Amino acid sequence: MQDNEAPTFTSTFAQEVYEGLAAHPKHLSSKYFYDEVGDKLFQDIMAMPEYYLTDCEFNILEENKTKIAELFGKNGAPFSLFELGAGDGKKTKVLLRHFIEKNIPFDYRPIDISQNALDQLEASLKEEIPQVEINTLQGTYFDTLRDIGNANGRKKIILFLGSNIGNLLHPQAVEFLKNMRDSINEGDLIFMGFDQKKNPQTILDAYNDKAGITEAFNKNILARINKEMGANFDLDKFLHWEVYDPETGTAKSYLVSKTAQDVFIESLELKVRLQPWETIHTEISQKYDDAVVAWLARKADLKIITELTDSEKNYKNYVFKK
Ligand code: AVI
Repeated sequence: MQDNEAPTFTSTFAQEVYEGLAAHPKHLSSKYFYDEVGDKLFQDIMAMPEYYLTDCEFNILEENKTKIAELFGKNGAPFSLFELGAGDGKKTKVLLRHFIEKNIPFDYRPIDISQNALDQLEASLKEEIPQVEINTLQGTYFDTLRDIGNANGRKKIILFLGSNIGNLLHPQAVEFLKNMRDSINEGDLIFMGFDQKKNPQTILDAYNDKAGITEAFNKNILARINKEMGANFDLDKFLHWEVYDPETGTAKSYLVSKTAQDVFIESLELKVRLQPWETIHTEISQKYDDAVVAWLARKADLKIITELTDSEKNYKNYVFKK
């Protein structure tokens, strides 16, 4: 495994890479897929025909925008719309446009770890829907939920779209929902997307596209370690491998070493030895059903007010309150 003692780490990324690649079995966190290249690859994934999640949620928002406006803007009270992990805001713009057209009083507070993503979103909104009052907030979910909790005055609505919750294991998802609960007051709402269990083949295809975009996205974590930590991973020596367990609803992504290989990560002074067919687990994408969402809500002491779905029930948006 590694020959040297652990160096002092210059970032959480460095520490997690060290620990994950020294572990048995090896793992890396999918949160590190996202640099400029990874952001672009994820945009490409969302535009792929196989990745049904984005279109499903887009259509749910489009078809239910009147109902959503009534829910958010009940009694004409102004609200602040916080969005965690806003990205390019493509789906949210359906709602923003509708709220503006209907003169619903609100302000939009997108939150993202990437200042670059926020700047682009702000610029595109100024161009497309300039009437929207926007205040961006850069930071991790954890920090920004605390900021949301401290924000007073208007009614709060928190959006968390894209089934991003699915990248968390159930215990982490419960913790996250509890943090969300702590950041809202009576009368505030949480609006979240949960991808649903469905034909296992549909799910496997969404995470294993023929064009190899998801493969490049998965391997981008190795490319980042090469770039940022002076490593020498040969990306061609790894397979992108996806499995889906229809019983638990868990899709898992792996990088599988095709051969015996030694990789050196310079800034960590870490030598990583991979056996033939050894795995590095990189991502989970959890799929849900009503019973599991109800269980998560109960654990986090949240109440489900309503749910919205598409005709095939491939995807659902649930609305929670305290
Ligand atoms: C961001 N997240 C919800 C995506 C998902 O579906 O798990 C990331 C992704 N991974 C592969 N394709 C898309």
